[in-house]
Amino acid sequence: MVVAATCGHNLTASAQVKLQANNIDEVVKEMTLEEKCHLVLGCGMGYGVDVKFPGTAGSTYAIPRLGIPATYCADSNQGLRMSAHRDFDSRDFYCTDYMTSINLASTWDKKAAYRIGQGIGNETKEYGLDWILAPSLNLMRNALCGRNHEYYSEDPYLSGTIAGYYVRGIQDEGTAACIKHFAGNSQETNRNANDSRMSQRALRELYLRGFEWAVRIGNPWTVMTAYNSINGKATCEDKALTETILRKEWGFEGMVVSDWNAGTSATVSMIAGNDMLQPGQDRQFKELMADAQSGKLPMADLNRNVKRILQYVVKTHSFSDYQYNNEPNLKKHAADVREIGAEGMVLLDNKNALPLKSKANVALFGSTSYEIIPGGTGFGGTMVGRYTVSLVEGLRNAGYQVYKPLLNQYKAHVTAEQKRLYPNGLPPFSLRPLNRAEEIVMKAEDVEKTAANTDVAIITIGRKSGEAADRTVDEFNLYDKEKKMIAQVSDAYHKAGKKVVVLLNVCSPVETASWKNLVDGIVCTWQSGEQVGNSMADVLSGKVNPSGRLPITFENAYGDAASDKTFPSDIMDMKDLATMYMWGGDKAKAKHEPKANIDYTDYNEDVYVGYRYFDSFGKPVSYPFGYGKSYTTFAIQNASIENQNGKFVIKADVVNTGDVAGRNVVELFVAAPDSKKLNKPVRELRDYTKTGILKPGESETVTLTVENADLASFNSKASAWVVDAGKYEFQLASSSEKIDAVLTAKVKGMKIKVNNVMSPKVKLNLLKR
Ligand code: BGC
Repeated sequence: MVVAATCGHNLTASAQVKLQANNIDEVVKEMTLEEKCHLVLGCGMGYGVDVKFPGTAGSTYAIPRLGIPATYCADSNQGLRMSAHRDFDSRDFYCTDYMTSINLASTWDKKAAYRIGQGIGNETKEYGLDWILAPSLNLMRNALCGRNHEYYSEDPYLSGTIAGYYVRGIQDEGTAACIKHFAGNSQETNRNANDSRMSQRALRELYLRGFEWAVRIGNPWTVMTAYNSINGKATCEDKALTETILRKEWGFEGMVVSDWNAGTSATVSMIAGNDMLQPGQDRQFKELMADAQSGKLPMADLNRNVKRILQYVVKTHSFSDYQYNNEPNLKKHAADVREIGAEGMVLLDNKNALPLKSKANVALFGSTSYEIIPGGTGFGGTMVGRYTVSLVEGLRNAGYQVYKPLLNQYKAHVTAEQKRLYPNGLPPFSLRPLNRAEEIVMKAEDVEKTAANTDVAIITIGRKSGEAADRTVDEFNLYDKEKKMIAQVSDAYHKAGKKVVVLLNVCSPVETASWKNLVDGIVCTWQSGEQVGNSMADVLSGKVNPSGRLPITFENAYGDAASDKTFPSDIMDMKDLATMYMWGGDKAKAKHEPKANIDYTDYNEDVYVGYRYFDSFGKPVSYPFGYGKSYTTFAIQNASIENQNGKFVIKADVVNTGDVAGRNVVELFVAAPDSKKLNKPVRELRDYTKTGILKPGESETVTLTVENADLASFNSKASAWVVDAGKYEFQLASSSEKIDAVLTAKVKGMKIKVNNVMSPKVKLNLLKR
């Protein structure tokens, strides 16, 4: 690996020409071959001794003689990931621990995404870095993907729009955003070598579509390719993906970077238009030098990539020598994460249990209640938050009493469990999810005593995941002890005439169908960052009226979704293996027969992912896509549609018909005509919007729009986006299952030809209606 200390020294004497925004071609001409081969490689990760920004993902090569500064990058979608402490420095450098992406997407609020992006872009800038490796927006193909909490949705439009506004926020601070992982990175098992095999239609309609929206809305300066392959080619080595689709078809003009240590040949990546390889390796430098000299790596390709890197460099804070202050407004950002974190919590059920009565005496059950989870593991989270507001603290801040005898019992239990699980102390850094405390099995009379002494029970169920490993079916289901706890607590509280509320402090859906009727309220809080306890308390108390909606379906049982059939859910020894690099690399691959769902994964469900499957095939679910309750009720009135020169404009009044103030999300699904014959999903999300806070009786007129061209489906045979002419239904909805108003309009047919690239090399057994 190229080490940071030697990265960017002067190779020759100072040159006349110094980099400016308008002389990039001249600078490229001045560069030596060595300098070019260095510039396209990163400078190692920021984990060495005395690096400028310890604990960050890396930097780019500096060439002082040409006025090319080093620029600095860091993860993540959840906030700037950087060590809070530095050797020989008395200050600290804490960053805001923002919410997981799944929590942010659950707000269905583009402005909220913008604000979070802006906060992260600002911290990146004020701590002296240039480039944040976020957002991640791979499609949630399956509930068990280990990185779902880093992603936005099972729907590409929701993913792409939230990502696009988040990117705008980052870049309005002058910080570079990076949409990743481009594309088809839907599982972590064997992530470096897995081949995602899919139809061109699924690729275009689902796995690329979100990125296309994010490029269109956010105009990101950079894109990161993924570890996996698509239809036989590594994404960082596939010219069709980066040059043909991303640049030629979508008009992307920025820089493409590889995921860290992805790909096998640096030369092939360069030719493919993967401009920069991170974090950079010596073997890659040698390969590029040799291949450039022999002509195997055309100089025109290398120069093109170098030019794109310099186009990025001239936009950075480092290039303009921005005088950063090391003092971003952490207080303001904490207020943002508290507010938006609560807005992204989803009320799944409420039988008069919520909001809690003020000053109630609350019994907190479940180990997670006492070790609340603010985010995921791996590079998707910040390294260390300055603090995490616990649930106990949040409830107390909101004026509740937390029942002490139970608190003391759990405190002792959680401490003992930590010792049992980690006899040598918690590992300082872990890519893999940490084991969590098992639940206490209580005696019935103890639970009854607690019920007698308290007003309400809150049970928290926790699940944590992160990159390099997928979840197992065991983790999707509730463990026996958890189920027992829910049954026992509900029984005792109901006998005492009191309510039970469950908080799902989870990274991705869990099984709910078998136990949800036992309890009186369920809030899916996801993992909302450093203010998690306050955000939870705000929702429980009614200070914030829940307005979050699910960005992913909660299936009844694992196995129900079409993609469950080809996801690595039954590889039980996977947890014990270093899955990140398992069987990766050509040599290792040659040693065994390719295994389904590990070496390759067939996306046989085709376009029927998430609600597209459940709705089209009439399969019941526990909680549908787009679902979420409120403490008030809303009505949709006076809905209308108008065709304005190829753009459909839908208007409706949203009226708060209940007793308390609140916000409402309006979802617009479109159903194409004869969709059965054409084998299309019965409905697809085409737009959404969110009202401001409406007082009881108050109304707001909302406007939703869809371009005619965006109603297209992808026809693989014709290599074209095709809009079938006919009468379409425009459905205003409060989930994919609950349609509140239906409008119809005649749509003109159209066909947009694109390139016939990235086709599958094997015959897939594609699902059809
Ligand atoms: C992750 C990326 C991340 C990179 C740099 C990789 O392991 O997949 O999301 O940006 O590391 O830290």
